[in-house]
Amino acid sequence: MGKAKILVVDDELIMRESLAGWLERDGHQVDKAASGEEALKLLENTKYDILLLDIKMEGMSGLEVLKKVRVSDPEVAVVMITAYGSVSTAIEAMKNGAFDYLMKPFDPNELGLLIDKIIDRQERDRENLFLREEYRERTRFESMLGQSRLMQEVFRLIEDIATTDSTVLITGETGTGKGLAAKAIHSKSPRHAGPFVAVNCGAFPEHLLESELFGYEKGAFTDAKTSKKGRLELAHGGTLFLDEIGEISMRMQIDLLRVLEDRVFYRVGGTRPIEADFRVIAATNKDLSQAIRDRTFRQDLFYRLNVISIVMPPLRDRKEDIPILAEHFLRRFRQETNKDIDKISREAMDEMMLYEWPGNVRELENAIERAVVVAKGRTILPEHLPIFAPEHRTVPKGKSLREIEKAHILAVLEETNWNIKKSADTLEIDRSTLYSKIKRYGIHRPD
Ligand SMILES: Nc1ncnc2c1ncn2[C@@H]1O[C@H](COP(=O)(O)OP(=O)(O)OP(=O)(O)O)[C@@H](O)[C@H]1O
Ligand SMILES: [Mg+2]
Repeated sequence: MGKAKILVVDDELIMRESLAGWLERDGHQVDKAASGEEALKLLENTKYDILLLDIKMEGMSGLEVLKKVRVSDPEVAVVMITAYGSVSTAIEAMKNGAFDYLMKPFDPNELGLLIDKIIDRQERDRENLFLREEYRERTRFESMLGQSRLMQEVFRLIEDIATTDSTVLITGETGTGKGLAAKAIHSKSPRHAGPFVAVNCGAFPEHLLESELFGYEKGAFTDAKTSKKGRLELAHGGTLFLDEIGEISMRMQIDLLRVLEDRVFYRVGGTRPIEADFRVIAATNKDLSQAIRDRTFRQDLFYRLNVISIVMPPLRDRKEDIPILAEHFLRRFRQETNKDIDKISREAMDEMMLYEWPGNVRELENAIERAVVVAKGRTILPEHLPIFAPEHRTVPKGKSLREIEKAHILAVLEETNWNIKKSADTLEIDRSTLYSKIKRYGIHRPD
């Protein structure tokens, strides 16, 4: 059986000492407090597993202490100690989140059994949380696919930097997998058993982002009825993911810079400096160099964040990843919808290979999801893809001549309803040349 860190709170010296003595004899680490006030002070700086709390004390009652502790430190298990005759208060305490209560007088064995039960429960909770997290993290990284040289480089970089504790800045267009990369770094890092706490900086107005990040003390503002830990504190021991960092205000940039430099911060309305140990990963689809030139992003913060940088390549620069990604999403949505679809037609795949994917992997994911929903047979055809709609049929820009030519030939063939002569005339090439190009590019007439 594991050992616990326990705080004994009783204003009666004899009771306090004998409780502490029994617990120490069982190998636990014990601190003592003679009043509720003293207990709260100790709780501010030390993390206890168990709190033994006398209900009836001079000054602050055990019940009051319990209520405060439930807010400030929800994980600690509280056992109330009550005298015969005050069972109703003990029940009141249970309603307020106490783990259990002991009635005086009790024998040391009873106490020992209860402590063991709590330790067992806490160990199991922690284990479950760990297993759940670990499973999620593992499947996450494995579900990040890419066979292109560009993605292989990204994977190698992720493996390398995961072992360091440096701050990372991930940039890239929307939907390129920045969020996924951040989680992959965390799950490969020595901090993987710790929390991965993400904050979407673009999703909050300034004052809300502040209390979201730093937390707040009770009474810091009108709605602050209780105090609350911020994401920085919650990320202790793990990774803090600052998503859409390009969206934060100039004032928040200063606050954040200070935290990154000193690793110490204050809750909103608080005076107690808080230290938390977390690794920072930030991401943005903004061009931060431009933002620095525009004076909307601080250069010093940029340097703080950009210790290591990862650039997620757009999907159009790694089209060889499209087939495996498409198959992967097909498998996933087939499972989710229970539909009997297991193929992507050659033509549909050609379409996808030609398309530019401005929304990157997320857009591909959505396209496959939609196709699975609208398809009738076992095969995904071009007409099931939203990109087949005429408004999306633009000639790809900035791509290889080969791709532009293929797309153009396909467009002309469709325009003429696959009349080879008309198509050849429009393209101003002869029919045999058109045939050989159709063959070379693997262009197929949709059934
Ligand atoms: N390499 C990949 N393998 C499998 N799925 C991927 C890959 N890259 C991205 N995805 C999927 O595409 C979607 C978008 O990825 P993610 O949210 O990480 O992108 P992002 O760059 O953070 O986008 P945004 O800038 O819009 O926040 C997610 O559903 C993600 O699971
Ligand atoms: Mg994202």
